[in-house]
Amino acid sequence: MPKAKITALGCFVPPRILTNDDLSRIVETSDSWIVERTGMRERHIADENVATSDMAVAAARAALAQRGVPAEDIDAILVCTVTPDMLFPSTACLVQDQLGAKGAWGFDLIAACSGFLYGITTAAHLVQGGAHRKVLVIGADTMSRILDYTDRTTCILFGDGAGAVLVEPAENSDEGFIGHLNEIDGSGAPYLNMPAGGSRLPASEETIAKRLHYVKQEGQQVFKFAVRKMHELCETLLCRHGFTAADVDLFIPHQANRRIITATAERLGLPPEKVVINLDKYGNTTAATIPLATRDAVEAGRLKKGDLVLFAAVGAGYTAGASLWRWAY
Ligand code: UT7
Repeated sequence: MPKAKITALGCFVPPRILTNDDLSRIVETSDSWIVERTGMRERHIADENVATSDMAVAAARAALAQRGVPAEDIDAILVCTVTPDMLFPSTACLVQDQLGAKGAWGFDLIAACSGFLYGITTAAHLVQGGAHRKVLVIGADTMSRILDYTDRTTCILFGDGAGAVLVEPAENSDEGFIGHLNEIDGSGAPYLNMPAGGSRLPASEETIAKRLHYVKQEGQQVFKFAVRKMHELCETLLCRHGFTAADVDLFIPHQANRRIITATAERLGLPPEKVVINLDKYGNTTAATIPLATRDAVEAGRLKKGDLVLFAAVGAGYTAGASLWRWAY
């Protein structure tokens, strides 16, 4: 069975920045509260005419250019998002068309903050199955479109962005995908969701009046689950593959809250220099946090060929997962 590896990574964030001070002029909050409780300082917000597919295409083009791969060579496109341009057709179809990826099939993957993790796991299996040689995985979310900017408990948390990776067969069996451990637990659905706009509660004057087309979250419930699950999944996955936390060169978790990340890292026994945190610059970009954090780690020289990298995430659903790779470029 061939192994799968990540061969290229491209990202896009919209240029407009929304700072904590900007938010304090919109809702009753403060820079000090946001920094202390979340670690976030600013986030990027897409202009009105920019949708998720636009950011996804920009990130995908950057990844393809890095590897010198023409769009026609892509076999499959997975767009991980909870903010598709529209419910159908899928954003993957819109991205395929804009890229000119004539030979590709693809689909959208809805797993909220675990989306990108599930995407790379799926891509690794498509490649390892032997029928795909180039799979594009894109995590892209325009969270600002589904945030209620009168709700200070959610609107301060999220930003917009996109990241894309190319997953290809690895010639060298020492590099690439090692394993994953993913779980869903739908009993967590009440704690983080967007209630209206689907078949349960289609758009109506009432759903609009009740502001049900926005992110709703019970933060403390999600917080406790996130710390417990990320730690549990990471530890079990490492053990399953004969590693301990001491073997991990870099931990790249979903960026939802600095306190979630540091609590997880402490439980795993990982020192700060092995943990990537960049939510101060981007906030929580949902499916885009892990590629953005990976890009920053590569650019800072913190992630190098041969490093053992552990990705982990928890999101709405609940969805949760951990994924272990030997970095390949
Ligand atoms: O990526 C998807 C998964 N999502 C997550 O992982 C998010 C997990 N949850 C969290 O990150 C945290 O729970 C939050 C950052 C959302 C909230 O932090 P917290 O420490 O759990 O705060 P809290 O909800 O317990 O609220 C504490 C107080 C409340 O006031 P009272 O009731 O004590 O008077 C809130 O009303 O802080 C208040 N508060 C705020 N104050 C200023 C809530 N949001 C704000 C705000 N500014 N933006």
